[in-house]
Amino acid sequence: MTVIAQVSDIHVRPRGRLYQDCVDSNAMFAEAIETLNRLDPAPQLVLITGDLTDEGEPEEYAMLRKLLAPLKHPYAVMPGNHDDRAHLRSAFGDQPLLPREGELNFGIDVDQVRVLALDTTVPGFHHGELSEATLLWLERELVACTGRPAIIAMHHPPFTTGIPYLDLYGLRQPEALSALLAKHAHVDRIIAGHVHRSMHTRLGAVPVVTCPSTTTQIALRLHAGAEAASWMEPPAFMLHHWSDAGNNTVSHLCYIGQFEGPLPFA
Ligand SMILES: [Fe+2]
Repeated sequence: MTVIAQVSDIHVRPRGRLYQDCVDSNAMFAEAIETLNRLDPAPQLVLITGDLTDEGEPEEYAMLRKLLAPLKHPYAVMPGNHDDRAHLRSAFGDQPLLPREGELNFGIDVDQVRVLALDTTVPGFHHGELSEATLLWLERELVACTGRPAIIAMHHPPFTTGIPYLDLYGLRQPEALSALLAKHAHVDRIIAGHVHRSMHTRLGAVPVVTCPSTTTQIALRLHAGAEAASWMEPPAFMLHHWSDAGNNTVSHLCYIGQFEGPLPFA
């Protein structure tokens, strides 16, 4: 059994500071970790798909390390547009996965599944891009794992959401990724964050799933010109379960917290 938990957009703040001046994102992430620790079976990997911190400051990364300490499972971190590559690198310098220079792309084996994490960030901007170097790295990695299921993880999802204030900061030129994936049929799905909601679509033939935030969720407003807003909807994460029997991944939405139950099932 292969189980990967995906957590996203945790927006850790320095001690005593609230996210957006109104929400305790640190406490909400601590609650996410409690829920992750209760999972049975335990995930082999907890992948945090970016926006680890809100402002990319060293004190936020130090707080993140403290908050991660009780996590019982192996984890890996990826950058989002609110992160700072240099500060992230120095806070997680003990993680052998992270390259020492350039984009923070890395690959990791979780049983037979190859997870390829792409750095979509553009320093100083909120939109995403896949650099030439990242696309070349991805192509090499995909060739190297031909014949095995691959999951591509990225902060910015490669599609237009229809929520106007999100699409201003989306991934530019997803066509290059789409063209590359058309040549590699073993990519089972793309998992992403950034949009603070769970969305499901595809890029070419490849399914794309996005993960909610552990803190606020982006308002579902589809009208052109809609005003940007967030809601305290139930925070959640994703659990991606590779099934040998089905030869595919099933992606489960998992709400954070403790709920009444178990109740009789009839
Ligand atoms: Fe983001």
